[in-house]
Amino acid sequence: MTSPVAYSLRVNASPLKGAKPAARQSRFGGFLDSSRGIVAFAVAAMAFAAAPVSAQTKPWNDIGRYATPAEVKAWDIDVRPDFKGLPKGAGSVAKGEEVWEAKCASCHGSFGESNEVFTPIVGGTTKADIERGRVKNLEEGSSFPQKTTMMKLATVSTLWDYINRAMPWNAPKTLTTEEVYGVTAYILSLAEVVPTDFTLSDQNIAEVQKRLPNRNGMVFYEPLWKVNGKGDVKNVACMKDCPVDATIRSSLPDFARDAHGNIQEQNRVIGPVRGADTTKPAPKVLPGAGAQPALPVAMVTPKASTGAPDVKAMLNSNSCTACHGMKNKIVGPGFNEIAAKQKGRADAHAYLLGKIKAGGSGVYGAVPMPPQPDLKDADARAIAQWIADGAR
Ligand code: HEC
Ligand code: HEC
Repeated sequence: MTSPVAYSLRVNASPLKGAKPAARQSRFGGFLDSSRGIVAFAVAAMAFAAAPVSAQTKPWNDIGRYATPAEVKAWDIDVRPDFKGLPKGAGSVAKGEEVWEAKCASCHGSFGESNEVFTPIVGGTTKADIERGRVKNLEEGSSFPQKTTMMKLATVSTLWDYINRAMPWNAPKTLTTEEVYGVTAYILSLAEVVPTDFTLSDQNIAEVQKRLPNRNGMVFYEPLWKVNGKGDVKNVACMKDCPVDATIRSSLPDFARDAHGNIQEQNRVIGPVRGADTTKPAPKVLPGAGAQPALPVAMVTPKASTGAPDVKAMLNSNSCTACHGMKNKIVGPGFNEIAAKQKGRADAHAYLLGKIKAGGSGVYGAVPMPPQPDLKDADARAIAQWIADGAR
């Protein structure tokens, strides 16, 4: 990939030729990207100095340049349902299993069954589905609790493309072509679409497409939930002066709030949807509400503020809880585990602060903790202090 920095350097290095206006759409203009915008502006100033008349009437005509074929090639990685764009190559299920164990299983489970970081990838499809090309468990009345990737997938090119461009989540675009073929074959073998001694390649992928369990299941409209045969959504188109106030129509009574343990620490079968922290009273205002309406009295359970920062809320709003449980490992260790491991370190606060801001790996395993450049300093300090104090 071309980073904005490399891009700007090259833009500066090659003085602009007048670009043909007809081809403007095909240019990769970067005006919304601040780093490129500045460069473009500087270059525009140079172009004005040369003072072509057209530049005064339509100043943007002379800004930017054509993307080079090499740049376009680097961006142009999509693989289409007819396999246009698919690189030549091959990878076996056995190779894929190695890649999966090393780079995917920590989040998706050894058999693609994990519901912790994302909904399961494999499960819910049968031999009969493979024959028919429609997945029974997606039909009305099915009691199957999940929609797994293999249940929904209608084109095998999508699976290949998605893994190639987006996975592993913490290091996208690091897999070789062979690894992408292999790991795609491994997923397909877990769903019994291909045998375990199979080698997937650009030569036989079209045959594999003919065995996808949901290949005939692409529909144009399918609501997530249905009520009386219709999508469970109600809305009136509003283009002007639209009402913005949220109204709460139902709520948990206070006595029941924490009756089943902290909802936030639980995984529901429909996916890792994080609920409210029920160890705390209900919030007085909805998160993100602008001008905040008072909530119905029953919702509000005022408690004297202790003045201490609400660390658990920070962990949520900064998505730390996507990877760390309070008491359990998800992708990274549970916060209690971190507290126990680093207890007694003289420099615990500084150590933890460093890890939170800069990330790291190797203390608990191979999966890295990504750096957190957007985390506010004060929040990072409060979180580090909270862990050093025992993560309670
Ligand atoms: C650090 C955690 C993590 C790792 C490691 C990881 N994934 Fe994922 N994966 C995710 C998350 C999170 C999503 C959902 C992303 C989204 O929807 O934006 C996902 C989505 C997917 C999907 C798409 C599922 C769908 O139905 O949309 C596939 C396929 C997939 N991953 C395969 C892989 C493969 C293959 C590897 C290893 C090469 C891998 N993942 C490694 C976290 C991870
Ligand atoms: C994508 C998943 C992910 C996210 C998001 C994430 N972490 Fe981590 N974190 C990890 C992993 C994995 C490790 C273990 C790294 C290792 O083995 O050294 C880790 C390690 C840590 C450690 C160091 C523990 C030690 O003893 O060295 C701290 C502290 C920590 N995380 C706090 C946070 C905080 C606070 C946030 C949110 C701002 C956060 N993490 C977000 C995955 C994540």
